[in-house]
Amino acid sequence: MAIQRTFSIIKPDATKRNLTGKIIAKFEEAGLRVVASKRIQLSLAQAQAFYAVHKERPFYDELCEYMISEPVVVQVLEGENAIAKNREVMGATNPADAAEGTIRKEFALSVGENSVHGSDAPETAAEEIAFFFSGIELVG
Ligand code: CMP
Repeated sequence: MAIQRTFSIIKPDATKRNLTGKIIAKFEEAGLRVVASKRIQLSLAQAQAFYAVHKERPFYDELCEYMISEPVVVQVLEGENAIAKNREVMGATNPADAAEGTIRKEFALSVGENSVHGSDAPETAAEEIAFFFSGIELVG
């Protein structure tokens, strides 16, 4: 497997509780390198556009409101098999199902307030990176 890039969000429940550094340490311990990073306040329109794929889900409005409730840290992570590795380090979407040692097991509060987002496939990783980062912000 070649070196990949994936997209990550450290979500409002985690930034609010000052867990950004602890979460980044988990990525780095797993061999993922932060190659781009910024702390931003999403607008409602941006949150709705980012999660447009979930528009028909019953939790969509709640999800978008939550994502604008505090700043988030958006990042590009790079490493061997980065997409799958990031998902492994994050753990299951619902922290009740997450494995020991994962970010969501240690830090997430609920399926909604689950501390991190990570891309699920190469196509979504490319789209999500491009949603938040311009070429000039990405070190080659
Ligand atoms: P994420 O990986 O960011 O992708 C979509 C998000 O929707 C997911 O993480 C959860 O935070 C959220 N989500 C999924 N299922 C539910 C649910 N049943 N209730 C509230 N939020 C949910």
